[in-house]
Amino acid sequence: MTKTDPTVLIGVTGCIAAYKSCEIVRGLQKAGVRCKVVMTEHAAEFVGPTTFRALTHEPVAMGLFDDPSDPIHHISLAQECDVFLIAPCTANVMAKVAHGIADDLLTTTALAATAPLVLAPAMNVHMYEAAATQANMGVLRERGVRFIEAGEGYLACGDVGRGRLADVEAIVRRTLDVLAEIGCVVAGEESATTEAVRPGGARFEDAGAQGDLAGKRVMVTAGPTVEPIDAVRYISNHSSGKMGYAIARAAAARGAEVTLISGPVALDAPTGVNVVRVQSARDMLAAAREPFAASDIAVFSAAVADLRPAHPADRKLKKGADDDALSSIELVENPDVLATLAAGKRAGQCVVGFAAETNDVLDNARKKLVSKGADVIVANEVGEGRAFGTDDNKAWLVDAQEECELPLMSKDALAEAILDDVLRRL
Ligand code: CTP
Repeated sequence: MTKTDPTVLIGVTGCIAAYKSCEIVRGLQKAGVRCKVVMTEHAAEFVGPTTFRALTHEPVAMGLFDDPSDPIHHISLAQECDVFLIAPCTANVMAKVAHGIADDLLTTTALAATAPLVLAPAMNVHMYEAAATQANMGVLRERGVRFIEAGEGYLACGDVGRGRLADVEAIVRRTLDVLAEIGCVVAGEESATTEAVRPGGARFEDAGAQGDLAGKRVMVTAGPTVEPIDAVRYISNHSSGKMGYAIARAAAARGAEVTLISGPVALDAPTGVNVVRVQSARDMLAAAREPFAASDIAVFSAAVADLRPAHPADRKLKKGADDDALSSIELVENPDVLATLAAGKRAGQCVVGFAAETNDVLDNARKKLVSKGADVIVANEVGEGRAFGTDDNKAWLVDAQEECELPLMSKDALAEAILDDVLRRL
């Protein structure tokens, strides 16, 4: 029998990979799956229930008696789900499930659930290879539990071997396949790379052009600016542009018409995005004026140089002859692209700024929210290998009412989270 609008219950256990569960939730939601989350207390040491509550718009419980409105919560969770996916699944939780131990909400629900159980293990290589873990896996497999094999590689503990949580995409696809096997039909906004009809019958609408940002205009600033000292030297910073490019890519994939004003970076233009390449802060301001005026959403993720040499030379300054000019460079302030444009913000337009901070992140973000005239500030710590150049980022979304802490996640996932937040504001 075919069932539409399936629900996947995602069990999150105490593991460094717990933050990836946020991306799993997003991936399944994009495919049109309703997600609920149940987590262990140890998982909450890595990602708080508030994050999952915000992502799923569903209550998220940890304790057996957390929900006063539902005294037998484990039974309702178990009955409501079409698939129970535990990702990441620690050796401890796997052992409990194998032996029928039910000492918290997650394991009690696992015992009570009759829906297919899918486990995506993640642990240290020695724990993974331990005879006890292998025996538990064998027992569970015999009972029909599906596994999404852990990958091999560098593990958070420093060891190298099998134990890494499988790729998020693989987990999402396998879960969708299990839904298809049991006759569940999902119709979501999954990207055009997904087959229109999956084996087993689950169908997807190809919503590549009809995403939730269809009809919206988005402007993004990204990368550093460079401010010439002379014909070969300049002042700049370490921004790689990855965050802004991820936002532009995600917005285009969700159907928006996107203009990306980019400082010099080593990144390819995202597909379907109109890229305007600039050098200096003043170039960036000039290039952003029109796209800003036309935009519904403007995201200022560029690391604009605050200062520029007052008198750049149009030839190469030479040691000796130009020692005076080289030893003391007079600097003048650059225009603030965000503050200048946000001063002319239209009603209904959503302006997102960033705050790159080495200290007092939230205090500084709150100040920038006001001084720049943004609707929301994405605050993140920079320096010592954080944010600049990396593929992941930890951020807070700060607005006039509250600050929402997001877990460490890939820049692609953060881009989606920022756009989700913007959509709620529009
Ligand atoms: N910004 C901008 N133009 C500038 C400076 C910053 O558009 N001349 C924008 C950035 O794109 C970001 C926000 O303002 O969205 C904050 O940038 P950040 O570098 O964190 O702060 P600054 O304004 O440079 O302030 P400070 O150096 O004091 O931290």
